[in-house]
Amino acid sequence: MIAMPQWAFVNDDFRPFSEAAFPLEDRGTQFGDGVYEVARIYRGTMFGFADHVQRMLTGADLIAIEHNWSVENLRPVFTELIRRNEQQDGIVYWQLTRGTAPRNHVFPHGVAANFMAYTRDYPDLSASWENGIKVIIAKDIRWLMCHVKSVNLLPNVLAKDAAARQGAGEALFEREGLGVIEGGSSNLFIVKDGVLKTPPLSEHILPGITRNYVLQLAAAAGIPAEQSYFSRQELLAADEVFITSTGVEVMPVVKVDEAVIADGVPGPLTRTLQQRYEAMISEAAGGR
Ligand SMILES: Cc1ncc(COP(=O)(O)O)c(C=O)c1O
Repeated sequence: MIAMPQWAFVNDDFRPFSEAAFPLEDRGTQFGDGVYEVARIYRGTMFGFADHVQRMLTGADLIAIEHNWSVENLRPVFTELIRRNEQQDGIVYWQLTRGTAPRNHVFPHGVAANFMAYTRDYPDLSASWENGIKVIIAKDIRWLMCHVKSVNLLPNVLAKDAAARQGAGEALFEREGLGVIEGGSSNLFIVKDGVLKTPPLSEHILPGITRNYVLQLAAAAGIPAEQSYFSRQELLAADEVFITSTGVEVMPVVKVDEAVIADGVPGPLTRTLQQRYEAMISEAAGGR
């Protein structure tokens, strides 16, 4: 059971989590007209803070949300939220929407954006990190701005629910003409003949913060990496498969639908990258 946090931040103030709310005509609620972020907290410190805020700012620009948030004025908000909730480990979730206005698809100008943030505990994934997980492949029915971390998550929700019902931890989206490109809430990597492969950044995938860190860690470890598309067949024939996200970090995948990947255990490059990611966290925040 994940305990409810005590405090949330809504627009300009801290409020008890149980009383915090958005208006009925918040455009995020009615239209999915907003962006969100999830960052990890390790030992009371936010990990990758500036990168997450920068992605939110870029996403808000891409969908023309007017707001006043920045790396500078968000930092004290999150610091205080983490302090009030005594959140040692967990996540911080935040969401920025186009604000409150009488319902109309055409969006208003000059309306104040709505912002909210809160922290949450995060489950222990040790067993999955050790043994790897099963994933399924789902048809990618999403739109053509998947590089924006928008709160429109219905295709992701449906795909991940189908995965859960089949005893899998993630659904991988297969996009016609491109191949298998990312997960419902993660980026995808394969290893073949010692080379790491992940689909390139485009409007088809989210530019994952963890994906970027892993590519940097691979370069530092001398592991050759290619950013290119791969098919379902290449995925199934890979030597290693793993997914990355803020939450699952570097998560080995040992089964795709009913097919076992290689010999069914996490591979050596996945292990190296897991260890290096762990070391990076430790260095940033004094360890788990
Ligand atoms: C669709 C999608 N791709 C990839 C990711 C991984 O991104 P990050 O590493 O920044 O958490 C997420 C995270 O939620 C996501 O929703």
